[in-house]
Amino acid sequence: MTSEFIAFPEGFVWGAATSAYQIEGAWNEDGKGESIWDRLCHTPGYIMDGSTGDVACDHYHRWAEDIALMKELGLNAYRFSISWPRILPDGRGQVNQIGLDFYNRLVDGLLDEGIQPFPTLYHWDLPQALQDEGGWAVRSTAEAFVEYADVVSRHLGDRVKHWITHNEPWAVVAMGYQRGTHAPGLKDYPASLQAGHHLMLSHGWAVPALRRNSAGAEVGITLILFPLVPGSSDTVVHPAFRKFDGYFNRWYLDPLYGRHYPTDVVADYIEAGHLPSDGMTCIEPGDLEAIATPTDFLGVNYYTPVLLRSDIPPGSDDEPLALLYHGPEYEYTNMTMMVYPDGLSHLLKQVHFEYQPGKMYITENGASYSDGPGEDGRVCDQRRVKYLRDHFAAAHRAIEGGIPLAGYFVWSLLVNFEWNFGYAQRFGIIWVDYQTQQRIPKDSALWYKQVIAENGLTTQL
Ligand code: FCB
Repeated sequence: MTSEFIAFPEGFVWGAATSAYQIEGAWNEDGKGESIWDRLCHTPGYIMDGSTGDVACDHYHRWAEDIALMKELGLNAYRFSISWPRILPDGRGQVNQIGLDFYNRLVDGLLDEGIQPFPTLYHWDLPQALQDEGGWAVRSTAEAFVEYADVVSRHLGDRVKHWITHNEPWAVVAMGYQRGTHAPGLKDYPASLQAGHHLMLSHGWAVPALRRNSAGAEVGITLILFPLVPGSSDTVVHPAFRKFDGYFNRWYLDPLYGRHYPTDVVADYIEAGHLPSDGMTCIEPGDLEAIATPTDFLGVNYYTPVLLRSDIPPGSDDEPLALLYHGPEYEYTNMTMMVYPDGLSHLLKQVHFEYQPGKMYITENGASYSDGPGEDGRVCDQRRVKYLRDHFAAAHRAIEGGIPLAGYFVWSLLVNFEWNFGYAQRFGIIWVDYQTQQRIPKDSALWYKQVIAENGLTTQL
């Protein structure tokens, strides 16, 4: 085995990411309103292990301890999300000052330790009050988002220098509105396309508000992207490539970079009966210009590629996700995600050459492996170390190829509530004992600490 030390560019941002519902707990404390995830988790049958995020990692009360852990690891930055119903319990109107105070303390605490805050405004916990009015499927939710973005950035904008509007619109559309596994738990394809449009629109509308309230800040959005990979037995370009690249990636990237929704995918949706024959009728004049408002960076979440196999013919609505999880010749994480570091360098290059975002951050990447503490209390998660090492090396290859990648956020800082999987999937680099709330940095966290300290790592080839 040969090895080599690879150095990252000076100033490269090393961080970790979380989201509000997955870690905060305190679901009904201090004036917080109900979110669609509170509602979904309190409805039997949605969460595989029957759990909820009511307490989760209790980060709402333990934030100071968690910042101390981040400091111990030497993190340069922390990506977290803000709970909209903690700030505006009804989604708009009355502001809950206690909720704002929590994020004020968090931001100050981070800055005191030299850790840059990267808040995400929407990581899926819509106020239930807005869902009751139709959720993202109605345009007024996009208007409410701008009010929320304005309130938050007026309070934190003097200190926050990096804003992320949305996390993974694809996941909201696909999981929340098509498959119904995520909140709001719907299976309504036409509504999913309206929801996606209003999410993207709300992003575009929020950008000027964030810039106005946060002088000099960088503003961006985070997409989950899926590189498409031919199955090993395929020697020809799979006919589904166009379709799935459209469904997963271009549907979001194209409008953000001023290219309108891709006409071939619109045609697919019309053919499938998801759209009327005149297409995306929810688009109003000016919407596409708003969505294409220039941003400072693109956040990329990467977990797994889509493996195209010619033995799975294109067809049903379920097919894209079925495709994601096939390919017995590959290695998988516990959440059946294919381990494919080359996908990351491939993806970054493709996005750079096609769309040229001025700057990119990997805002999430990580692996679910369930290794817990041994008798000595240590968590030996060598598979996660290998996973991260190989993905960091792939990011480095992209940087060497001229891709403007400015930072990398590991998902996740803490083992946490993994949506419909409940607590069964364990992504964090810090173990959390949910009974005692004790935190134990895993071996991967200790390894990451060294990477950050050296701004580089030793690869293993
Ligand atoms: C991403 C989500 C994040 C977490 C990881 C595993 O899609 O943004 O909250 O669930 O997957």
